[in-house]
Amino acid sequence: MIIAVDGPAASGKGTLAQGLARHYRLPHLDTGLLYRAIGLAAAGLEDQPGFEQAAIAAAQALDAGQLSDIGELTTARAGVLASKVAVIGAVRQALFDYQRRFALQPGGALLDGRDIGTLICPEADVKLFIQADSKARMERRARQLEQRGLPVDRYRLFHQIEERDQRDMANPHGGFYRAQDAHLLDTTLLDIEAALRAAIAIVDRTMARKAEP
Ligand code: CDP
Repeated sequence: MIIAVDGPAASGKGTLAQGLARHYRLPHLDTGLLYRAIGLAAAGLEDQPGFEQAAIAAAQALDAGQLSDIGELTTARAGVLASKVAVIGAVRQALFDYQRRFALQPGGALLDGRDIGTLICPEADVKLFIQADSKARMERRARQLEQRGLPVDRYRLFHQIEERDQRDMANPHGGFYRAQDAHLLDTTLLDIEAALRAAIAIVDRTMARKAEP
């Protein structure tokens, strides 16, 4: 079974994806980490002429070992850098094969990101599109960062998330919209357990329907 989980920044898709992967015992790829790692690799040239080339080179040379320093990868700054490298077509192209291979491994997989159900794996068995209003998303991300002992400026964080949403929506290479066959799950009023229960119900229902003669 292949599960695709997409949605905007801090919508709760990462936590949900982890819970679903555990529940169904599927290998999980957080594709945002790929863009974050590349953004950080090119950070020294941010807003300078060599930025694009540095990002493309980093994408072509990406190895999974770079994804282990979760602390730095999950900062708000890495998120903004990620959305800057994510608009570069050659970066997305370089990451496409890596993500496809992961999705098509025997036994299935779960991937979360922005374009999994639309571009990376349009044939996924179940597609979820996770949504939550901007304030709830900011508050969640703020608490996540605070739990890790990082200082949080909520006003700045709100603007970073909005800036990222806008850049993502305008991305000419991304299929960052809800796939036609994706199930919408709004988590604004749901805690982690309730959101996971709702997602499991959708997956079970969809797979049961597929198994019908
Ligand atoms: O967890 P959060 O939603 O805040 O961010 P993320 O999923 O780690 O993604 C960070 C950024 O990477 C996004 O704002 C997108 O610009 C980019 N991204 C992408 O272009 N395509 C993906 N499949 C995943 C992330």
